[in-house]
Amino acid sequence: MEIFVVDHPLVAHKLTTLRDVRTDSPTFRRLTDELVTLLAYEATRDVRVSEATVQTPLTETVGVQLSRPVPLVVPILRAGLGMLDGMTRLLPTAEVGFLGMVRDEETLQPATYADRLPRDLSGRQCYVLDPMLATGGTLAAALRLLVERGADHITALCLLAAPEGLERLRTGLSGVLEERGDLRLRVVTAAIDERLNESGFIVPGLGDAGDRLYG
Ligand code: PRP
Repeated sequence: MEIFVVDHPLVAHKLTTLRDVRTDSPTFRRLTDELVTLLAYEATRDVRVSEATVQTPLTETVGVQLSRPVPLVVPILRAGLGMLDGMTRLLPTAEVGFLGMVRDEETLQPATYADRLPRDLSGRQCYVLDPMLATGGTLAAALRLLVERGADHITALCLLAAPEGLERLRTGLSGVLEERGDLRLRVVTAAIDERLNESGFIVPGLGDAGDRLYG
């Protein structure tokens, strides 16, 4: 599993404002949207394309177009929904599948309450959107589901990740990665924070992304 931290001054600047407890909900939504577009630029670096011929006003030349089947974007509700517009701005022809997952506040275990994903994801490139990778339980469950349906190339976009969550993903998915030699998993994030606190929140973090986006 590959982990990529987007090291860019604009990403750091927007993330700093996002962390600020005084940032109101409308600003938080706008900054999330802007940040995702910056992360998506890196996250889609290996999106599959195929050769295409194009007629310019002067001549015919060869470029590329997105390969088919088109990528699948998967926001994890609720908070991942705040990242959807920023992502589809870069990938307007992508399909979108929804996963509703919630983490129990006591046990920190994720539960899936909505699954609107295609049944067969064989050969699909998937981009999973979830702003927070805390214990990693939610993302691990989501990635496992996509792999079970046949996805072979999955990139998760997160605004923030905790070292504990990344480690859990690494160890929790190592078996799947060994079994499926063709499988490629990537996490693209704006920052890896210090740690989780006793309530499973990322520290220093930005609080509860779902609440800050949607109240
Ligand atoms: C948050 C967040 C992730 C998850 C991360 O969602 O958006 O989905 O928790 O935690 P984990 O890595 O420890 O599993 P939450 O369950 O609060 O739901 P929400 O998006 O509906 O607010």
